[in-house]
Amino acid sequence: MSDALSTILEKAPVVPVLEIARADDAVPLAEALVAGGLPVIEVTLRTDAALDAVDSIMKHVPGCTVGIGSIRDPQALERAHATGAAFGVSPGMTPDLLDAITALDWPFLPGATTISEVMTLRARGLMVQKLFPAALLGGAAYLKAIKGPVPDVTFCPTGGVTARNAAEFLSLENVIAVGGTWIATSDLVNAGNWAAITERAAEVSGPA
Ligand code: 3PG
Repeated sequence: MSDALSTILEKAPVVPVLEIARADDAVPLAEALVAGGLPVIEVTLRTDAALDAVDSIMKHVPGCTVGIGSIRDPQALERAHATGAAFGVSPGMTPDLLDAITALDWPFLPGATTISEVMTLRARGLMVQKLFPAALLGGAAYLKAIKGPVPDVTFCPTGGVTARNAAEFLSLENVIAVGGTWIATSDLVNAGNWAAITERAAEVSGPA
């Protein structure tokens, strides 16, 4: 499960975290991100349009690898998995969700905040984790501290990651990618400002 997830997260340095209010925005938004060099996205289950948005992107933007985020319980996990999306993401973990994730053969990026949570997920074979909320926890210094006692877990830090600190996170050995909403904020999406989103994506995706 972790290997399949690593293969996905190695495709791009940044995973845009998206809140899509109107399903009609999904395809132009995904196209804007792919054009900017960020083909791996996380559509959060925070809006009623989220699952329709995922469906449209999977049908119409073949170059995009779609994950579903903000999965908080086994019921949401089941709904997300049933879409056929490439991977799932949670902000944290509960015992029920952990059992359901490990019973599924589906790439999953589970959220962790403390060293004990990191170790709990690791004990269940989840070797790639979302550190959340990364900047508030202490940012790069926190990740460096984890690397000492737990060198074999790799992270996708998310929460407070921006254009200013993304490179510092990405320079760490135990960081595979970073996630965040700053590439495609709700304001930019609601305004349909696809050009600005492509520009923000291109700034972090490296030379085309
Ligand atoms: C998430 O769900 O991963 C976070 O809301 C993203 O955090 P950010 O808004 O600070 O990027």
